[in-house]
Amino acid sequence: MPSRSRLAAGTAPSPSDLDAEAGFARDVAEGLASHPRTLPCRYFYDARGSELFEEITRLPEYYPTVVETGILRACLPEFARSLGGGPAVLVEFGSGSSLKTELLLAAVPGIVRYIPIDVSASALAAAAARLAHRFPALDVRPVVGDFTQATAISLHAEGLARIGFFPGSTIGNFAPDEAIGLLSAFRTTLSPKGRLLIGADLKKDLSVLVPAYDDAAGVTAAFNLNLLARINRELGGNFDLTRFRHLIRYDEKKGRVEMHLESTCDQVVTVRGQSYRFRTGDTIHTENSHKFSIDEFRALGRKAGWQPRHVWTDERALFSVHDFVD
Ligand SMILES: C[S@@+](CC[C@H](N)C(=O)[O-])C[C@H]1O[C@@H](n2cnc3c(N)ncnc32)[C@H](O)[C@@H]1O
Repeated sequence: MPSRSRLAAGTAPSPSDLDAEAGFARDVAEGLASHPRTLPCRYFYDARGSELFEEITRLPEYYPTVVETGILRACLPEFARSLGGGPAVLVEFGSGSSLKTELLLAAVPGIVRYIPIDVSASALAAAAARLAHRFPALDVRPVVGDFTQATAISLHAEGLARIGFFPGSTIGNFAPDEAIGLLSAFRTTLSPKGRLLIGADLKKDLSVLVPAYDDAAGVTAAFNLNLLARINRELGGNFDLTRFRHLIRYDEKKGRVEMHLESTCDQVVTVRGQSYRFRTGDTIHTENSHKFSIDEFRALGRKAGWQPRHVWTDERALFSVHDFVD
């Protein structure tokens, strides 16, 4: 079971649930009062958001999952050989469904302990149960929490090699300075002599990039709008989801896809007694997905204190998987 207890139906909320709700309420109040309005993208991932994300990964337009999985299948034997075969602990940041992790665990039999960290308790619980079944000897220790606080996690890994795994290009959700701080914190968590296998999405033609974030079936739109539904459910907000629409922008200079929720009319929304006025066309900025060149990403790793060792990509150079060593 995940290490932080979650609210079960019919029970009193635990202190950590109350902390989480207070943090969500504070971040929403600050984000909706700021200009431009923003909401942290980690709040996408309640149980419904995690389900919708898994649907996104199966969309024909969403190339990152299928391409990164293909790269991993090809590169994992070489990665495994380079580890030397001793016992190791695997820490995954933002593990979600842990589907790619199964490939890694199968390729690296020396991994004796797996610590997946994710804000989504439901995704973690499902993944932990599946992995415990497939790898009965593996010590699985899920942590419900924010991986930006990962330095607080004790690995109890004396005598074990430390491998970090950060697939999905989740690193792209962070601005460059934040990304350097995060990668540096992961190095501290994995020290001494950690290793980080990390996926980074590459710059590419907008004809491929934009549909990946604005699919024909509207699943990414539903994922984006679910954030407002979550605010309504958990904080008693009164967002009318029919009065906001999913909007994608590409910022060429910053090399990033932005996701917004755009108000389609003049309206006032109330959350926890606080009113927020929206004019037609006002947006809430909900996610950034930075895209990199291979050299840019290796330079980012170096700035965080990592030594980029190897990088693998696909035939069309859509995505990259990097092996960083401490
Ligand atoms: C883009 S998905 C990637 C999922 C999976 N790693 C993959 O490659 O398919 C991001 C995952 O990170 C989790 N996540 C996002 N921000 C987080 C944070 N600050 N702390 C912990 N988990 C986070 C989400 O719940 C989600 O499972």
